[in-house]
Amino acid sequence: MRKKKSRTISFLEAMAIRFLALFQVLIIYSTSLLIILPQNSCNASNIPDLEQCGFNAIYNLGTSISDTGNSAVDNPSIWQAKFPYGETIHEATGRPSDGLLIIDYIARSADLPLVVPYKNLSAAHLSACHGVNFAYSGATALSKEALAKKNITLELTNPSLDVQLGWLDDYFEGFCNNVKEDCTKALNSSLFMMNFGTNDYGSAFRQNHSMEEIKKNNLVSDVVEAMKQALKKIINRGARKVLVFGVALDGCRPISITMQSANKSATYDRFGCVKDNNDFCKYHNEVLQEGLKELREQHRDVQIVYGDLYNAMQSVFDDFQSLGFKSLTKACCDVESGERVKAILYKDKLCGAHGTIVCPKPEEYVYWDNAHWTQRANQQLANWIIQDIFPKFQCNA
Ligand SMILES: *[C@@H]1O[C@H](CO)[C@@H](O)[C@H](O)[C@H]1NC(C)=O
Ligand SMILES: *[C@@H]1O[C@H](CO)[C@@H](O)[C@H](O)[C@H]1NC(C)=O
Ligand SMILES: *[C@@H]1O[C@H](CO)[C@@H](O)[C@H](O)[C@H]1NC(C)=O
Ligand SMILES: *[C@@H]1O[C@H](CO)[C@@H](O)[C@H](O)[C@H]1NC(C)=O
Ligand SMILES: *[C@@H]1O[C@H](CO)[C@@H](O)[C@H](O)[C@H]1NC(C)=O
Repeated sequence: MRKKKSRTISFLEAMAIRFLALFQVLIIYSTSLLIILPQNSCNASNIPDLEQCGFNAIYNLGTSISDTGNSAVDNPSIWQAKFPYGETIHEATGRPSDGLLIIDYIARSADLPLVVPYKNLSAAHLSACHGVNFAYSGATALSKEALAKKNITLELTNPSLDVQLGWLDDYFEGFCNNVKEDCTKALNSSLFMMNFGTNDYGSAFRQNHSMEEIKKNNLVSDVVEAMKQALKKIINRGARKVLVFGVALDGCRPISITMQSANKSATYDRFGCVKDNNDFCKYHNEVLQEGLKELREQHRDVQIVYGDLYNAMQSVFDDFQSLGFKSLTKACCDVESGERVKAILYKDKLCGAHGTIVCPKPEEYVYWDNAHWTQRANQQLANWIIQDIFPKFQCNA
């Protein structure tokens, strides 16, 4: 009896397993359809076109995440000016990625040419009417002197926000002198973008300043104040459409995770990101948004929109499987693991250093190098940002 019963059960089990297997195949098949179909149709229908916003130019100030080549023009021997950087677009343009950046996808969506680097004068003059990019890798919101007063020394001096503003002034003085009226008109419907913060805070962390200490010495409020003052200058120049980015989940950067690896009390979220770091980013973003609120009250005729990179990135992480990402916090392009926790790490991105290994499928990685996103991640982040800012600029009005 027992034997028979158990055989019957195992027969039923076998049937159940077959049924389940079939069912599973169906589920996998249908979910793969679900994954593939919305992804393709998504880009076509769900993501609005910024073209409808009528931006006729893009001007940008910021850090490496939006550097389309300025630092590479100044220093052609830096790693991001050479392969494997740019491998996906078959050209090393000085962008710190395997391909395009968020700013490129924003420009495309606005039906504008990719924003040329200010340092490439020939290109900058050619695109006089379509915008210029002043962003520079390693750039801080505060000057070297202002940071030194807080005991934060910069290993490298990269053109900070005030220097980039000077370039913007030079550019518009030259441009406006030639076509005065057109210039004013152009500014009226140009999109001005700005991103700062990560490098100010990164320098402080590298020098062992704790987050508590940083909050106490007003670094965050000074960074936000510098951004506000710069925005006021830009608005006084005639900007009426402004997009100001917060910082992303910097605790998920491979470099942040490695830097905390010796810290026994560090805590991590479910993706392996350094919690403290992300909380700090959230804090900066709150202070920044308060600052933007004040600016809006002072400039009611200006659209001042917050670029929520933090939640854009959170959304990419939350949906990573359906978006096709397999690695969230490891760099696609890196040196062999044994070499990582070395002094060099605290200065360099490592991708391009001796012993560099490049993953075969960058599109499955969120991070290209230890601090910068892949083209695929940039595209997904841009999609989120575009959807978020579209109604805020009242583009469908
Ligand atoms: C500068 O821009 C021109 C025209 O777009 C381009 O051909 C050239 O490669 C650029 N130079 C650098 C150093 O990026
Ligand atoms: C800067 O660092 C020095 C030496 O570590 C210390 O004596 C000084 O109090 C610090 N100053 C500030 C403003 O943190
Ligand atoms: C420029 O902006 C002002 C105020 O927002 C508006 O009244 C004017 O029509 C705009 N001019 C052009 C040419 O877009
Ligand atoms: C930061 O701390 C680490 C480990 O405690 C130490 O090796 C390093 O020299 C410190 N760096 C600075 C700039 O104080
Ligand atoms: C180590 O992690 C703890 C807990 O998150 C944090 O409070 C502390 O500042 C970290 N130490 C360093 C040197 O970053």
